[in-house]
Amino acid sequence: MRVLVAGATGVIGRQLVPRLVAAGHEVSGITRSESKRALVRELGAEPVVADALDRGQVAAAVAQVRPDVIVHQLTAIGSLDTRHFDRDFALTNRLRTQGTDYLLSAGQAVGVRQFVAQSNCVVYARTGGAIKREEDAFDTSPAREMRESVAAMRHLEEAVLGAQWTDAIVLRYGWFYGPGTSLARDGEQFELVRKHKFPLVGDGGGVWSFIHVADAAEATVAAIEHGQRGIYNVVDDSPASVAEWLPGLAQLLGAKPPMRVPRFVGRLFAGEAGVVMMTQLRGASNAKAKRELAWRPAHPSWREGFAAT
Ligand SMILES: NC(=O)c1ccc[n+]([C@@H]2O[C@H](COP(=O)([O-])OP(=O)(O)OC[C@H]3O[C@@H](n4cnc5c(N)ncnc54)[C@H](OP(=O)(O)O)[C@@H]3O)[C@@H](O)[C@H]2O)c1
Repeated sequence: MRVLVAGATGVIGRQLVPRLVAAGHEVSGITRSESKRALVRELGAEPVVADALDRGQVAAAVAQVRPDVIVHQLTAIGSLDTRHFDRDFALTNRLRTQGTDYLLSAGQAVGVRQFVAQSNCVVYARTGGAIKREEDAFDTSPAREMRESVAAMRHLEEAVLGAQWTDAIVLRYGWFYGPGTSLARDGEQFELVRKHKFPLVGDGGGVWSFIHVADAAEATVAAIEHGQRGIYNVVDDSPASVAEWLPGLAQLLGAKPPMRVPRFVGRLFAGEAGVVMMTQLRGASNAKAKRELAWRPAHPSWREGFAAT
């Protein structure tokens, strides 16, 4: 199939494009920069230069490629201070609202058969069970600092799944780790844990679902080839509370066990959003992705996956 990847040069795009090419697809990749054409080519795709926040440029790029499938992997997160979550996500939020709308309307104009878009497991309501399935409720009361960001993910999901003219698939990824992410040998978060600067807040009862970026890319290829319209959680087999994975990671890195701080202290340095993530977040189940996509993560547990990175 002819596949257009928006976000081809990103953390997930760099894993995804070569896998799509290896699976026999004809791949084009969008980048904003002329200077990244070479990178897109190295990955095996035909580069298309366009700003995803410019409606005309997106329409022209999609019309030029005339893809069967569009994959939306656009983000612009950079580094994140959870006290200012929405501020740091402002550009990503635009990519998830305006960017999604522009890609959808350009895709409709050329009749793309499938539209696959990146979302995230943080969207689940923080009530009820610890492990969420795709049909479980969306978070309608996110922490104040991340309201716009959750609303942007909701916009993306509703706009994509509302597109009845195409096979629309939303992939709710877990927390990425591995090459190019902040949870990697040279990554920012690993460094904080190593330096004893990543404390455990409250009871550390927030449950995180992780996914190695290579496994996320494999699942994305599987969704393109075998997915049905709808949502898939793309996470590993081992959701874990912060109280479990953070000391586990510290041990792997040969660091001291994380410092424990009460919620009110956590709120001072990480904001309400940070406290929510450490104490209330829910994990996700990958049962549907395994069942319908014939996909299995090569790193079923963050524990051995972190060690492997
Ligand atoms: N589920 C998760 O845990 C998750 C999800 C996403 C990101 N992250 C993390 O966030 C960190 C940084 O990610 P990131 O989002 O900053 O960067 P990134 O993943 O390295 O790349 C973002 C991609 O979006 C493209 N892009 C951004 N704005 C664009 C625009 N206006 N027009 C066209 N393309 C545009 C970029 O293209 P060009 O630069 O080539 O123009 C690039 O291909 C990483 O540590 C990553 O692991 C985590």
